[in-house]
Amino acid sequence: MIIFSIETSCDDTCVSFIEVDEKKKSKIKILSNLISSQVELHKEYGGIYPIMAQREHQKNLPLLFEKAKNEAGNPKIDLIAVTVGPGLDPCLWVGVNFAKDLSDKLNVPIFPINHIEGHIYANFVELDLDFKKVFPAICLVVSGGHTQLILVKGFGRYRILGETRDDAAGECFDKIGRTLGLSYPGGPAIEKESYKEIKNRRGIKFPKPMMFQKNYDFSFSGLKTAVLYNYKDQDLKTQKDEDYIREVCYEAQKSIIDVLLFKTIKAAKDYNVKSIILGGGVTANKELRKTFQGNIKKDLPSVNLYFPDVQYSTDNSLMIGITAYYHYLNNEKLLPKKIEASPNLRL
Ligand code: KG4
Ligand code: ZN
Repeated sequence: MIIFSIETSCDDTCVSFIEVDEKKKSKIKILSNLISSQVELHKEYGGIYPIMAQREHQKNLPLLFEKAKNEAGNPKIDLIAVTVGPGLDPCLWVGVNFAKDLSDKLNVPIFPINHIEGHIYANFVELDLDFKKVFPAICLVVSGGHTQLILVKGFGRYRILGETRDDAAGECFDKIGRTLGLSYPGGPAIEKESYKEIKNRRGIKFPKPMMFQKNYDFSFSGLKTAVLYNYKDQDLKTQKDEDYIREVCYEAQKSIIDVLLFKTIKAAKDYNVKSIILGGGVTANKELRKTFQGNIKKDLPSVNLYFPDVQYSTDNSLMIGITAYYHYLNNEKLLPKKIEASPNLRL
């Protein structure tokens, strides 16, 4: 079976072709997997402009589809998977409309996929998976748009335990990056700075918002503001000082990671889960991975930790195709009559 998948929920246009053997119910063959990033376009503004992003998706999606189809060897498509939400409404519609046109033309079904669910299953791209060994799990999805702690009782059985009350973790990275004059997106730029040697430490410390509150929610806007105030308090020379920038990056990143880790471990203990699953762009951060690995091994040695291959942490359409495949395996062959973009879709 060949699955063609589309992801246009934010600023990346992503398409992929995968081949799955229904009888073996495992091995997934990636025939093509393309991403057209709009980072260069949005860099100038330090954020994403939905209408500009929509225009780029409209321009790129048909071209990318042809390219991916050729790379895959022009296979016959059996199923189309498309992200329907959550995300930016005008961007989602580009993918949804393209999927609908193609579905009409080829007379094949569409599986509408939740982007957050995609980030979860990005972990299981090439695994011979036995979900009984994985679930129940606590899943932390941390991206530019979302920060959620989810209890996954089984495939398709989700309960959101907590989420951010204001900025998402990735958004916090991006806004701090903008304050410090770093390149966009802020996450990778801050990570890069955080590894550099600091000759003269100033003893900067930032808050770890809501860390010890008895809930699973997050809040990152106070941290972003703390960095902004600290920066504004400095003279011009300090604001440009390499050591200052490096220390702010290191400490801000540490605050974000510590809060995410603390709440994830708390949830995993409270719900006595078999696994912790990470997903979303922020999990591309190597310091976050290392910190989670070390602490989970120490605190919860019997719990499995999954994080996606770095290339599948950030947005991609492979994760959408994989998720559709698991839905298909789950015998969800009855498709909704109406497929539409759903910008505020919840798990
Ligand atoms: O999942 P994603 O590609 O898109 C959304 O669904 O939002 O996540 C993008 C976010 C951005 O905020 C970006 O700064 C962050 O992921 N990010 C990182 C790293 N790489 C990407 N944050 C911290 N460290 C990184 N290495
Ligand atoms: Zn995402």
